[in-house]
Amino acid sequence: MAEHLVSSDFLQFQTLLASRGWAVLASGEIDADPAVTLRRLGTIVPQYDGRVSFDVTYRPGYDDAPYSQSMNALGAHTEAPGFMPPPKYLALYCHRQARCGNGQTLLADGIRFYDEALSPDLRRWSQNNEVEFVSSATPGDETRSSLRAPIRATVAGEPVLRFSYNLFRYGNVNPDAIEVRRVGDDPSDPLGQIAEEGEAFFSRNLIPVLIPDGCMLVWNNHRLMHGRGRYADQARHLTRYWLS
Ligand SMILES: [Fe+2]
Repeated sequence: MAEHLVSSDFLQFQTLLASRGWAVLASGEIDADPAVTLRRLGTIVPQYDGRVSFDVTYRPGYDDAPYSQSMNALGAHTEAPGFMPPPKYLALYCHRQARCGNGQTLLADGIRFYDEALSPDLRRWSQNNEVEFVSSATPGDETRSSLRAPIRATVAGEPVLRFSYNLFRYGNVNPDAIEVRRVGDDPSDPLGQIAEEGEAFFSRNLIPVLIPDGCMLVWNNHRLMHGRGRYADQARHLTRYWLS
């Protein structure tokens, strides 16, 4: 990633985050504990396992699931769509980036997708139908949380998007391999169509960000969709934080 895309000034970083929806902070501006730096932006909130940080790195056991701790590609989504509200900001602190040439975090404007690119009949459908956002904490976990919510809401005058290719296609934000294989191909299923239109928009419009070692990417999770390409370096290691 070009050096000029990394903010070495916290104020510039905050300004970019507000105007563009994402920004990368240089290592020199990050405290030894990145959580200290992030508390300048908001409150850190617990994740699926109740902890305030989560290791995004390879762990054996998820090789056939589209899951953060596999090395597989992750389809377009917003984080924690089953949370009320979903985290406003998502942060990834990079301990060690993949050296295989892949491992980019992919970002695209999800509100622009919904408001401008989604087929009008599907937008109408989603205005009239809430979605059941079912999430296993990890693939295969029998304990599931569930929340009924609209795909696109407005809260305190600000847009909030909930989008999960996995949920819309496989019925679970964190599906296991069995759920991925069980997917039906009913062309009249509106959620399946929204998933495919969202993924197509995402692949046409995504910005790939390869976070440099020691730097931190933060984005607005109420506006942006994110995903990841498949990578091959097991040593890639990021720490994820959620902020309200
Ligand atoms: Fe994610």
